[in-house]
Amino acid sequence: MIAPSPELCGVILHPAAHTRSPAMHNAAFEALGLDATYLAFDVPPERLEAAIAGARALGIRQLAVSIPHKAAVMALVDEVDETARTIGAANTITRQGERLVATNTDWIGLTRALERETSLAGKHAVVLGAGGTARAAIFALSQAGATCTVLNRTVDKGAALAAELGAAGSGSLHDLADCAHDIVINTTSVGLRSDASPVAADALREGTVVFDAVYDPAETRLLADAVRAGARPIGGKWMLVYQAVEQVEAWAGQRPDPERMAEAFESVG
Ligand code: ATR
Repeated sequence: MIAPSPELCGVILHPAAHTRSPAMHNAAFEALGLDATYLAFDVPPERLEAAIAGARALGIRQLAVSIPHKAAVMALVDEVDETARTIGAANTITRQGERLVATNTDWIGLTRALERETSLAGKHAVVLGAGGTARAAIFALSQAGATCTVLNRTVDKGAALAAELGAAGSGSLHDLADCAHDIVINTTSVGLRSDASPVAADALREGTVVFDAVYDPAETRLLADAVRAGARPIGGKWMLVYQAVEQVEAWAGQRPDPERMAEAFESVG
């Protein structure tokens, strides 16, 4: 007799970057006693359609969707929920019966990460950057009753995004010093495996919260500058952990322990 198969989950991304998702999810599965396995699949854009068809045929329970597939994948599933449509990106496909349903948990991941240090309702945030992560950030802030200003290197792009998603204003990265705020959220790639910051150190303020979506290195230049300014830093690890918590709960119906997933994240650094 063939033993029942475990549930299969995974992440699709390209290039085959170093991903800590299998470590995080497999740790969660083990802790929850789930008979499930999580793998990373390197899927170049020209094979995305075939990959989704394959996932469908094989009954894969859930796929996390990473760079560069978060927008393209929405055309290949049976349903895209309203959240993913508004953000314009899906990071999760979950099988519900015979249907593949796409959603976005990045924004919840950011919300929970920020909530480690601050409440959000009534606060004003500055979002640095105007890409996909910025879109999730603006959505998260508006859901939580916070307002935001978008500052971006390419000012026109930031202004267009602010107008589309109802942000309070926009400007260039140099405007941070003149922009009153409670929270700074870096969604640019500046600082990724480099010792650079998207903003000047003296623009950061005491008592504010500074979140950096960059998680490699764990302490970016921006976060080090935040500590020196007397601000409270939050590392990008927490957004990844909490968006994964939501993913596990979405298919397994059980909520994994974020601290356990954070440990697994660290273990493969
Ligand atoms: P993601 O989907 O992860 O948010 P993205 O869509 O590629 O990534 O967006 C990257 C963001 O980082 C953009 O806001 C980009 O600014 P531009 O719109 O001006 O291109 C920002 N970014 C990337 N490199 C940068 C740099 N060296 N200095 C300032 N901003 C940078």
